[in-house]
Amino acid sequence: MARRKKIYEGKAKILYEGPEPGTLVQYFKDDATAFNAEKRATIEGKGVLNNRLSEFFMTGLSNIGVPNHFIKRLNMREQLIRQVEIIPLEVIVRNFAAGSMAKRLGLEEGTPLPRPIVEFSYKDDALGDPLVPEEYIIAFGWASQQDMDDIVALALRVNDFLTGVMFGVGIKLVDFKIEIGRIWDNDYMRLIVADEISPDSCRLWDIETGQKLDKDVFRRDLGNLTDAYTEVARRLGVLPSNVTHAAKPHVIN
Ligand code: TMP
Repeated sequence: MARRKKIYEGKAKILYEGPEPGTLVQYFKDDATAFNAEKRATIEGKGVLNNRLSEFFMTGLSNIGVPNHFIKRLNMREQLIRQVEIIPLEVIVRNFAAGSMAKRLGLEEGTPLPRPIVEFSYKDDALGDPLVPEEYIIAFGWASQQDMDDIVALALRVNDFLTGVMFGVGIKLVDFKIEIGRIWDNDYMRLIVADEISPDSCRLWDIETGQKLDKDVFRRDLGNLTDAYTEVARRLGVLPSNVTHAAKPHVIN
């Protein structure tokens, strides 16, 4: 049987050629990395959960008119998506100080921010995805001023949507990362949300207890990552019926 063509392999996902031009198949791996891949593990069930959770969030965004790459889920680990030209930025939205911002500014994690803050990292693993000001982005031509205005507007709509959805199930959205892609309809270019939205790319804290339900569980060795993601999926009502129990992480380096 002919093997389909691999277009790209990242740390947590693989992209294959899709069945029609302009489409790709996005495969969610069980691999987890942190600190620019210095820490790695294979965490059984993570890919299945992230495939479902990203489907859930992207479908919700479509329903409120936020354009994104998701077309349909194909199976446990794969979804059909629109092929985009990824803008080489990590678009990060923060509602509360945590992670690198808390460290950089000496803020206690969980400190509420005066308003949602949008920041950008240049996507380059060799450089460790450095934080970049908007002026760099425009000067180096990664995106135009109009693109940046559209990206901030998209990111804030995603933030309002995700904040509300998570609040509804007792979870605080501390921060998250999205990626944005360009698509063309003839000569007309549009920006859409791409990549994934999952607990790999968000900080999610239980509102009552503060318990972390995101990739920080892996980054900081706080317990079983699949259990945390399963809890998020369970609360949102998107738990696949055959993922009921987490396996132990298998450390591969
Ligand atoms: P940070 O506080 O480490 O800068 O992370 C901010 C948010 O971005 C957090 O929700 C985790 C997410 N993130 C990614 O999705 N990928 C990454 O490579 C990094 C560093 C963070």
